[in-house]
Amino acid sequence: MNLKKLYLDYFESLGHVVIPSAPVVPENDPSVLFNTAGMQPLIPYLMGEPHPFGKRLCDVQKCIRLTDLESIGDNTHHTFFEMLGNWSLGDYFKKESIEYSFNFLTKVLNIPVNKLAITVYEGDDKIPRDEVSANRWIELGISKKRIAYLGREDNFWIAGEKGPCGGDTEIFYFRSDDEVPEDFDPKDERWVEIWNNVFMEYYQDQDGNVTKLKSKNVDTGMGVERTTAILENVNDNYLTSIWREALKKLEEITNLSYQGNEESMRIIMDHIRTSVFIAADPSGIKPSNTDQGYILRRLIRRAIRHARKLNIDITSNWEEQLANIFILEYQDTYKELKENKQVVLDVLKNEKEKFNRTLEKGLKVFEKLTKNMQNVDGETAFHLYDTYGFPIELTIEVAKEEKMSVDVEGFKKKFSEHQEKSRTASAGKFKGGLSGNGIIETKYHTATHLLNAALKIVVNKDVHQKGSNITSERLRFDFSCNHKLSDEEKQRVEEIVNNWINEDLKVEKITMKKDEAIASGAECMFIEKYPDIVSVYQIGDVSKELCGGPHVKSTKELGKFKIIKEEASSAGVRRIKAILE
Ligand code: ALA
Repeated sequence: MNLKKLYLDYFESLGHVVIPSAPVVPENDPSVLFNTAGMQPLIPYLMGEPHPFGKRLCDVQKCIRLTDLESIGDNTHHTFFEMLGNWSLGDYFKKESIEYSFNFLTKVLNIPVNKLAITVYEGDDKIPRDEVSANRWIELGISKKRIAYLGREDNFWIAGEKGPCGGDTEIFYFRSDDEVPEDFDPKDERWVEIWNNVFMEYYQDQDGNVTKLKSKNVDTGMGVERTTAILENVNDNYLTSIWREALKKLEEITNLSYQGNEESMRIIMDHIRTSVFIAADPSGIKPSNTDQGYILRRLIRRAIRHARKLNIDITSNWEEQLANIFILEYQDTYKELKENKQVVLDVLKNEKEKFNRTLEKGLKVFEKLTKNMQNVDGETAFHLYDTYGFPIELTIEVAKEEKMSVDVEGFKKKFSEHQEKSRTASAGKFKGGLSGNGIIETKYHTATHLLNAALKIVVNKDVHQKGSNITSERLRFDFSCNHKLSDEEKQRVEEIVNNWINEDLKVEKITMKKDEAIASGAECMFIEKYPDIVSVYQIGDVSKELCGGPHVKSTKELGKFKIIKEEASSAGVRRIKAILE
């Protein structure tokens, strides 16, 4: 049974257009490191922008969720997973959405109704209790006893802190051989959530204010790995056909069986698969100490640690053998895996070699430094990180083996002091938050506005932003333009931006009504279409853009602007990568 195909065919037959998965690294949203849900690339359309393919969409989206990183090793979590999703952008709403999901599960996948239970939103002071959904489920044949009303924690969905959102209804499956209880107890862990239908009719701003969106939308998400486990009747996601080849290979490499080595084997397979997808992403992420690059480094290094635990000869090409299996498995669906295969293998190999060299040294130093310690203090943990490339998670793991604990708060303190000094990345992000708002990223935000304005002068006034992505190492800017920029044009752009920087223009944030902002000529990119009240950043009198920020106070802070690459991005869209020196 091919779940993904059944799903897409089913929703296509209901008038949905199948859209391609967006890259794992968001193209237009520097506030998150990775796409964590199918809806994320669709935010502008949930906010009201018309989608070129219409009002009914569906897809399989590659997602990376890092909140679960520490749980990897159990039988249901993955850092990378595929999410099946269908959307109504102001078209159908609760009744149809619930019916579509119900029919797919019970008629296409043939899951018995008796194995299902439902939660719906109990409401709050602003949003009413969702009786419409509950009644719909009952009409379709779900027993009243199998419906639970839950609060904001469980049945209200938003990606992060602000954005389109709404109450949801979640479908649970009884994953056990025990007799299915008549009454549904959402706390009973034998019930696992398989599908979430979110009724996105609200927008929540940073301060928690909720306003109505232009249209009532539906956003649903169902995890491929978890649903496959149900269909294949196994209680461990890693025992499904999805992992079969990788697991076979890993057992062969280690000469060990999965039973008894589950945790390390799951971590190795999960982390190598996620690393393959990050390294293959068109954004060109490489292992580093910040942002997505840091995550990539951490995943590869954690996989290596567990490979050592299983006595794999880590100088052999074990990681390549595993990566090849994932590439083969997914390359027909995600062409970047085929196109960037060599890049992926090189990234893994280089990082492995680098880490192998430091690991040997680091383990000895760990032993020496901690010989007389009860617990590892923050300073020592930071020293291991800074000098020997030991991620804090690794120090925690090694310490755990030695029955020691680590002063993580002390480490974080040292880490942020260091970041402040070197001004390379935000400590906030390190703490697990996903905001790209470090000092250097902030500078790149402002530089992006200047670049946009300079292109309008040099190329033509109709240049528009088509995408933007910022890391602590560079900015990337996509804009509408039909020709390759000449050397003179690039030079002019650099000159203009650097002149503005030297003029030390003030950067001001003005809050105004959206209509007024647009009428006043502020540049507006779709991702920042906030309702009603918006912030506009004005730089001297050279640039005015709707933007959530953050930005520097004055342009002098930026240093020197330099274009490092100009290339085609897609038809009629050029891409510039630039740095600040
Ligand atoms: N966006 C919703 C989720 O991820 C469907 O659960």
